[in-house]
Amino acid sequence: MRTSLVLALLPAISAFQLPFKLPFFNNHSGQQLLQPANTTPRVAIIGAGAGGASAAFWISKAKERFGLDIEVDVYEKEPYIGGRSTVVFPYGNTSLPAVELGASIFVKANKNMWRAVDEFNLTRRDFRDEKGMGIWDGEKLLFTASGGWWTWWDNAKALFRYGFHSPRRTQVFVDNMINKFLTLYSPDAPKWDNITHLSTTLGWTDLVSQSTSEYLRSEGVSDRFISELVEASTRVNYGQNADEIHALEGACSLAPTGASAVEGGNFQVFEQFVKRSHANVYLNTSVKSIRQTGSDRWLVDSDRGSESYSAIILAAPYHSTNIEVPSEVSSRIPPQPYVHLHVTLVATTQPSLPPQSLSLSASTKVPAMLLTTFEGARNGGKEPEFNSLSYHGLISEGEWVVKIFSKKRISNKWLSKMFDGQVGWVLRKEWDAYPVLPPSTSFPDVKLQPHFYYVNAFEPFISTMETETLASRNVVDILLKETFGGSGICGPEGTPLNDTAKEDYVFGWDC
Ligand SMILES: Cc1cc2nc3c(=O)[nH]c(=O)nc-3n(C[C@H](O)[C@H](O)[C@H](O)COP(=O)(O)OP(=O)(O)OC[C@H]3O[C@@H](n4cnc5c(N)ncnc54)[C@H](O)[C@@H]3O)c2cc1C
Ligand SMILES: *[C@@H]1O[C@H](CO)[C@@H](O)[C@H](O)[C@H]1NC(C)=O
Ligand SMILES: *[C@@H]1O[C@H](CO)[C@@H](O)[C@H](O)[C@H]1NC(C)=O
Ligand SMILES: *[C@@H]1O[C@H](CO)[C@@H](O)[C@H](O)[C@H]1NC(C)=O
Ligand SMILES: *[C@@H]1O[C@H](CO)[C@@H](O)[C@H](O)[C@H]1NC(C)=O
Ligand SMILES: *[C@@H]1O[C@H](CO)[C@@H](O)[C@H](O)[C@H]1NC(C)=O
Ligand SMILES: *[C@@H]1O[C@H](CO)[C@@H](O)[C@H](O)[C@H]1NC(C)=O
Repeated sequence: MRTSLVLALLPAISAFQLPFKLPFFNNHSGQQLLQPANTTPRVAIIGAGAGGASAAFWISKAKERFGLDIEVDVYEKEPYIGGRSTVVFPYGNTSLPAVELGASIFVKANKNMWRAVDEFNLTRRDFRDEKGMGIWDGEKLLFTASGGWWTWWDNAKALFRYGFHSPRRTQVFVDNMINKFLTLYSPDAPKWDNITHLSTTLGWTDLVSQSTSEYLRSEGVSDRFISELVEASTRVNYGQNADEIHALEGACSLAPTGASAVEGGNFQVFEQFVKRSHANVYLNTSVKSIRQTGSDRWLVDSDRGSESYSAIILAAPYHSTNIEVPSEVSSRIPPQPYVHLHVTLVATTQPSLPPQSLSLSASTKVPAMLLTTFEGARNGGKEPEFNSLSYHGLISEGEWVVKIFSKKRISNKWLSKMFDGQVGWVLRKEWDAYPVLPPSTSFPDVKLQPHFYYVNAFEPFISTMETETLASRNVVDILLKETFGGSGICGPEGTPLNDTAKEDYVFGWDC
């Protein structure tokens, strides 16, 4: 009885919980029992950012749980793990504090990021700016708060300028979104083949089909509040105005409660995902084309030659990858413009922006974090040259690093004018940072072809590090079912293996 022999060798897993077809089991000492040694199924992951790194990790979790035998190859064209989550050092000096060049914050509701930091012994630090926040319209400072961006909700000045109802109603809107979002971590978390389906399941059709301005206005939030505090948030987080971006992503921009970052860089979470997955990682290795050579056979051509796989996980924005794929695949990926963002990092000995650089009176104290609104430009004024300009702490005694996000290149001349000549190191980086996110009711497919999955289909819905880890969890769940005939990442539906801590339960980690 081969079956019972296999089961006897897997004492930790009862027959009820055994979710996979037997040929994929080994005996936990590395030797396959029912399968010739050279046919270990292989999965290719393209991209080692938040999405690809976590995909490798989710597969390894399933391998651990179910004794599944799968070999995973991760291809990454850059020489580092993290993708849009990466750090640089002022003056290129690694003794100085690392500065995030891409994704910088996550929040407590981001349970995968939060959990990973704890499990991997990384250090979380509060992302607070106690030195104040201001909203700049290109000509005037419309609003300032001394307590920093994250504390403005109950600031007396905010109440005075915006009244009681607008901040409250906005808060309710954000809280409702977060409560729904948290169901994605529950034991019966939704699964989806396409993002439209997920949007419907979560009851978010109303949010994604309207702009942030439209939606909030219909909830009774004032125009002033929308064009100032709300737009400041959508512009700093997504480089888009409140009347351009859909209300779901608008709500995400407004949800900074518990904003945190990993000491030394968020990329470390993704490095750990990959390391702990024991996947093969090919850095500096660009994938050139993917061809289908059988019903469940895909051939990946890269700098390291051609390799054959049972399944493909594409974890990069397709249009930026330059990968040639069959037309049956490409035709299922709608065009997706991204916001082209200029990030400029500056080291300066100016402890804050000199007021004269914004033509403000000499007594004005310019806040450490300057956010912007398009409202001035809407009314015929000029648009601010930057989306945001913020002080990010000390580099060393008497020198600060400032991060500027803008739509256009920031010139040396402009920097010199702004910081009154006190400019040390300057670093410029251009990103295709996040999708352009207009209101929409139709979102992309996750399954592009049998055994070919697309993590970044999630991005036009929400684009964050966390949601990419959720998108990859969903993809891995489908892949385990469809390619390996199992019952998904957590075994049979609705049967978490560990329900001791329902409150802190995180689907994918605790099952
Ligand atoms: C400036 C900036 C600020 C941001 N701020 C935040 C924030 O505060 N919080 C937050 O959560 N999110 C933020 N984001 C968004 C966040 O970075 C992304 O949503 C998330 O990191 C995307 O992860 P990903 O793995 O899907 O894609 P990516 O990180 O883009 O990873 C894709 C990887 O695929 C690789 N690749 C591409 N083509 C190929 C190929 N042909 N062969 C092999 N490899 C290939 C790329 O090199 C890349 O490493 C920010 C983004 C930017 C740019
Ligand atoms: C399991 O694998 C180990 C080595 O990989 C081998 O020595 C052992 O005999 C195998 N067990 C069974 C029951 O096949
Ligand atoms: C990546 O390639 C560059 C240039 O070819 C090389 O200098 C670097 O060492 C490589 N890095 C890795 C991690 O392979
Ligand atoms: C790097 O920074 C450290 C800490 O401030 C400093 O002691 C060192 O001299 C710097 N190295 C270089 C090459 O500037
Ligand atoms: C994390 O740190 C704790 C205490 O320092 C240690 O006991 C634990 O083994 C570490 N865990 C990992 C996964 O490194
Ligand atoms: C989206 O996925 C759902 C199931 O998740 C399916 O019923 C529906 O037909 C899909 N829609 C499209 C347009 O593929
Ligand atoms: C169940 O989860 C809790 C909290 O997440 C954890 O402390 C505990 O060790 C887990 N138990 C088992 C048996 O894995």
